[in-house]
Amino acid sequence: MSPAHQTNNATGERLLIAVTGASGMLYLRAFLKVIAGSGIEVHGICSSSGRKVLWMEEGVTPADLKGIARWFAEDDFTAPPASGSSRYRGMAVLPCSMGTLAAIASGLSVNLIHRAADVMLKERRTLILAVRETPLNRNHLQNMLRAHDAGAIICPPMPAHYLRPATLEEAAETYAWRLADQLGIAVADRKRWGEEPTC
Ligand SMILES: Cc1cc2nc3c(=O)[nH]c(=O)nc-3n(C[C@H](O)[C@H](O)[C@H](O)COP(=O)(O)O)c2cc1C
Repeated sequence: MSPAHQTNNATGERLLIAVTGASGMLYLRAFLKVIAGSGIEVHGICSSSGRKVLWMEEGVTPADLKGIARWFAEDDFTAPPASGSSRYRGMAVLPCSMGTLAAIASGLSVNLIHRAADVMLKERRTLILAVRETPLNRNHLQNMLRAHDAGAIICPPMPAHYLRPATLEEAAETYAWRLADQLGIAVADRKRWGEEPTC
């Protein structure tokens, strides 16, 4: 490749999304919707439990999700996300189960989701964990702190009720905006506190 065709942007405009078997697939759909048109290329990995919960909650398969250009199998450690040389600006685990949280907090690489998250942490790239469980036990809380201390951003799917969302979809959108902010993705028509009438 000639120097004219090289890019100075080492991480490119790619984002990795990992879907695990926690409840909250609505937030995944909302996030894909708000970043559609942002120009960022999204790649995905879905755990086997994630596939089941996606079907139970949304009635779709990963391949049905619009906005994910390429999927990798959860056991494919030869896929690009397994390497620090891959060009992802960041990764979001959305939603993130307590099992996947524990694996990431412990540095285990049992599947490609865990390995890709480990890579994000070692490369000092953005890793967001949309953890979902209630109530939380001591292990959950300790694993969140461990992941936080290793560099992850713990960002549970919590809508902004003060923006008065009228539907579940609108509520999920308020969370999707926050996630986009964390990943540095500009979203058109994003509402912000103090910048919009609230009543
Ligand atoms: C309908 C359904 C909802 C679930 N919701 C959650 C959840 O909110 N949080 C969680 O940690 N696990 C939840 N689980 C359990 C996980 O799917 C299970 O622990 C699984 O082993 C996680 O594997 P993964 O992290 O590889 O996707 C749920 C399972 C089902 C079937």
